[in-house]
Amino acid sequence: MFNAEVEVLGSALSIKGIKVTSDQQLLVYGISYFVYGLGGFLSLPVYNQGYIYYVVTADIRGEFLVIGVYPNTCVNIMLRITKSHINYNNIRYANGSTITEILNEYHTMQIYSGGDFTGSEIRSSKPVSVFSGSRKYKSDFLVDQLPPIKSWGKKYITVPPHGFQYDCKVMSGFPNTVVNYTCAANTEEYIELREAGSFQTLDFNTSKCLLISNEPILITIIVSLMDGEPAMITMPPLKEVVGELMVYVSDMVTAAQLVLVTNANITVDPTGPPSSTHIDCPEHLKFCIMNMENLICNQTYSISSEKERFAISGYVHGTRYGVKNGTPRINAALGYPIVHHASQVSILLNFVNYQIFSPRRYIANRIY
Ligand SMILES: *[C@@H]1O[C@H](CO)[C@@H](O)[C@H](O)[C@H]1NC(C)=O
Ligand SMILES: *[C@@H]1O[C@H](CO)[C@@H](O)[C@H](O)[C@H]1NC(C)=O
Ligand SMILES: *[C@@H]1O[C@H](CO)[C@@H](O)[C@H](O)[C@H]1NC(C)=O
Ligand SMILES: *[C@@H]1O[C@H](CO)[C@@H](O)[C@H](O)[C@H]1NC(C)=O
Ligand SMILES: *[C@@H]1O[C@H](CO)[C@@H](O)[C@H](O)[C@H]1NC(C)=O
Repeated sequence: MFNAEVEVLGSALSIKGIKVTSDQQLLVYGISYFVYGLGGFLSLPVYNQGYIYYVVTADIRGEFLVIGVYPNTCVNIMLRITKSHINYNNIRYANGSTITEILNEYHTMQIYSGGDFTGSEIRSSKPVSVFSGSRKYKSDFLVDQLPPIKSWGKKYITVPPHGFQYDCKVMSGFPNTVVNYTCAANTEEYIELREAGSFQTLDFNTSKCLLISNEPILITIIVSLMDGEPAMITMPPLKEVVGELMVYVSDMVTAAQLVLVTNANITVDPTGPPSSTHIDCPEHLKFCIMNMENLICNQTYSISSEKERFAISGYVHGTRYGVKNGTPRINAALGYPIVHHASQVSILLNFVNYQIFSPRRYIANRIY
């Protein structure tokens, strides 16, 4: 656990990056917590980071953080904002203007806005690490690590956790992107995203949707209850994996579920009671959804298939039960993907050289 000293504060440059290296494969999760909120991410190894990113935040109180991984990295950020201007290092920047900064290793460049930063473009001379966050409903916050454009995909399936609804933010990285989507049998719709950085928010509510595009897109879901408790998850595109996946369920939550989209007959170990697992294979998706509830917190699960290669995507969604406005109820939620956003997914990679750090109060919860 890291204390408040590693919290990145202000719309400014600071030096608060944390580097994790190891001689064995590992997965690094970050759980950010606060009295009123929770957020979580699966950290991307440095070799999966990149030179071009588009930012996705929630629609209010957006913020993002760019971390230097190599010395002398020139970073240009072209802002797309919903407010007339933002401040960075006490200088005003308008919509469409560019902020330039030279980052060294461990440098943390954080930018705040009262509004939405979605569509802002980050280009750097060497790979950087990018985190996105938002303080959505006054006190609840959202955190995720953003994948670079090189690891976006063209085919995604989005599903909410059981008992929750969601919005889907669809982001383009290339001009003239067309996204076809289908959320029920025989109903195909589409959206057009004209420029790199164009986006739309689709209210998918509780639907299970298949999205297919002509150019790579980034899909972020914002899961919530009717009255809040949001969690932001960047959905991994449907990709073939080889081998066995490991996924850790945080001990910072009091209940968690695993939501998997797959084309294979998969086994999750340890198994829960049969009543906790639901499998649904809607005809319009051509994939099956497996939802496992009542996961054990502070537990690592393995996901495998009889097939050597199988396609999979999915995430862990967790909630914390506590008191809110004097009433005992779910008072915070988090979510993180089960697999890395990587141009090539192979689970038995040699995971070395992670870079992690902290949008707001960050706790490196557990390292495997
Ligand atoms: C900011 O700029 C983008 C891109 O030009 C534009 O689509 C958007 O409407 C602008 N936002 C505001 C608040 O003017
Ligand atoms: C969302 O879905 C729920 C359950 O299917 C339904 O009760 C509710 O009316 C839907 N909300 C909207 C805005 O469509
Ligand atoms: C989207 O749908 C249109 C109309 O059915 C089709 O012509 C186009 O090829 C589809 N695009 C993709 C990427 O599947
Ligand atoms: C999936 O695997 C289990 C365990 O190996 C087996 O009992 C079940 O019949 C399989 N289901 C399908 C649809 O292949
Ligand atoms: C989580 O599990 C680890 C390893 O099994 C154990 O050392 C640790 O104390 C547990 N943490 C909590 C909060 O239960």
